[in-house]
Amino acid sequence: MNQNVSKEIKRRRTFAIVSHPDAGKTTLTEKLLLFGGAIQVAGAVKSNKIKKTATSDWMEIERQRGISVATSVMGFEYENFKINILDTPGHQDFAEDTFRTLTAVDSVIVVIDVAKGVEPQTEKLVQVCRMRKTPIMVFVNKLDRPGKETFELLDEIEQKLDLKITPLSWPMGMGNDFKGVYNIYYKNLHLFRGSGQTVEEGIHFDDLSDPELETYLGDAAGNLREELELVHGVYPDFKKDDYLNGEIAPVFFGSALNTFGVKEMLDVFVQIAPTPLGRGCDERFVEPDEDNFMGFVFKIHANMDPNHRDRIAFVRVVSGVFKRNTNYYHVRQNRQLKFSSPTAFMAQKKSIVDEVYPGDIVGLHDTGNFKIGDTLTEGEMLNIKGIPSFSPELFRYVVNADPMRAKQLAKGIDQLMDEGVAQLFTGKHSGRKIIGTVGALQFEVIQYRLEHEYNAKCRYDPITLYKTAWFTSKNKAQLEDFRLRKASQIALDKEGREVFLADSPFSLQMAQEKYADIRFYFTSEFEEEK
Ligand code: G4P
Repeated sequence: MNQNVSKEIKRRRTFAIVSHPDAGKTTLTEKLLLFGGAIQVAGAVKSNKIKKTATSDWMEIERQRGISVATSVMGFEYENFKINILDTPGHQDFAEDTFRTLTAVDSVIVVIDVAKGVEPQTEKLVQVCRMRKTPIMVFVNKLDRPGKETFELLDEIEQKLDLKITPLSWPMGMGNDFKGVYNIYYKNLHLFRGSGQTVEEGIHFDDLSDPELETYLGDAAGNLREELELVHGVYPDFKKDDYLNGEIAPVFFGSALNTFGVKEMLDVFVQIAPTPLGRGCDERFVEPDEDNFMGFVFKIHANMDPNHRDRIAFVRVVSGVFKRNTNYYHVRQNRQLKFSSPTAFMAQKKSIVDEVYPGDIVGLHDTGNFKIGDTLTEGEMLNIKGIPSFSPELFRYVVNADPMRAKQLAKGIDQLMDEGVAQLFTGKHSGRKIIGTVGALQFEVIQYRLEHEYNAKCRYDPITLYKTAWFTSKNKAQLEDFRLRKASQIALDKEGREVFLADSPFSLQMAQEKYADIRFYFTSEFEEEK
């Protein structure tokens, strides 16, 4: 591999910030962009969270979708590092979007509100990161407000998130008594002087027994010494490899709103966070420093202008260099495609690029060729692993409400499913179409978008359905018996794979007991049993 490319790879850091809504993800993102000089003023990054009140406010949803294209990927330069922050929707109805975005990052920063502690959405997201062994860094936010006692909060993080942690900074007081943080990694003291302060370099303290500490902290110095001694006794020393292997999560403290503790974390982050990682494919593992280009689609965004039904496919470059106007092999469609205006994402600006390196995201104009999980290569047959669909939680029959426009409806549903808005199942015998989603909001989004973008109308009929489960078995006889007896409860997913439609936890349990040789799966990522 060419030296320049390998240098470009090494300086890239691609990550996502995840949190429960309101913990401070947007504020933190904005502050990181400020440090990178990507934006000049606070307030430039609009929160793309769809507020609870927006359930029936469609203009609001459209507006939010517009913002989320602009802020989907924010790339910027910071001290010779190229940083890519991938945005994730905060609203839990869009959790699946977030899960897919996590497949395109190399690490995550989890934001926790010091007063609220670990909240449900954070638990779910961290669980997915743990499954994938994604390196995690924790930022405890809002230290300018009163919150949970530090050791208790850390216990809560360890227990609820099932994470081993080690603090790399330590707060002194909180709320009105917040004095600042001591950076354990760099051995720096950072003093908090309230809002509106400029960021200053830390004051270096190799030896905390130095009486000079008193001149900065007064009586609080003794307290800091004691607490840090406890920290050293309780938590393991930080080892970069443990973090990179996803075994230990370093914790930082600060206040995003006051730009406090943010630069400090960023400085450590760029040093320790992983450089672009390779990705597993069904065929083999692809390393970032391979000469040939490989990338995969993790997100598709429809154009909001109904007159131009093109979309942007977001491709994570895994290996090699993506080049403009070059033929690439679309593995699923077995054809060559060329892109004349690939887009790079630098902060909020989109611009056409000629070359894109591993770790970066490139936006490709798409007229309906892509779906999530598709791979592009220079000719090799490679199928990316690990972009799962999960069993949806809510289901409805989807019915055509305008018989004259059946074709438009079918096309619209097909494209929305490719975008990953929801999942479609078709009853094997009945042929009835079932839409499954993670949140209630999607049903309304689908209806609205079908009407506005595809000029088609649908209505929903209720269905009693608890879960869909993909299934396999080596026991062919049992599989046949199951298919026969449960015929009315078997549907096909969009890839034509069979799923069992369990109408209640009880019926699922009965099926599992009666058909002991059949394995049921709740995510689509499973190895087929031959
Ligand atoms: P999110 O993206 O995770 O949902 O959170 P966001 O950054 O939008 O922050 C949620 C609220 O918390 C915002 O207030 C924000 O100003 C506040 N916040 C973020 N960081 C801190 C911090 O360090 N200290 C304090 N005290 N507050 C913080 P809001 O009133 O809900 O929104 P806004 O009207 O100010 O935008």
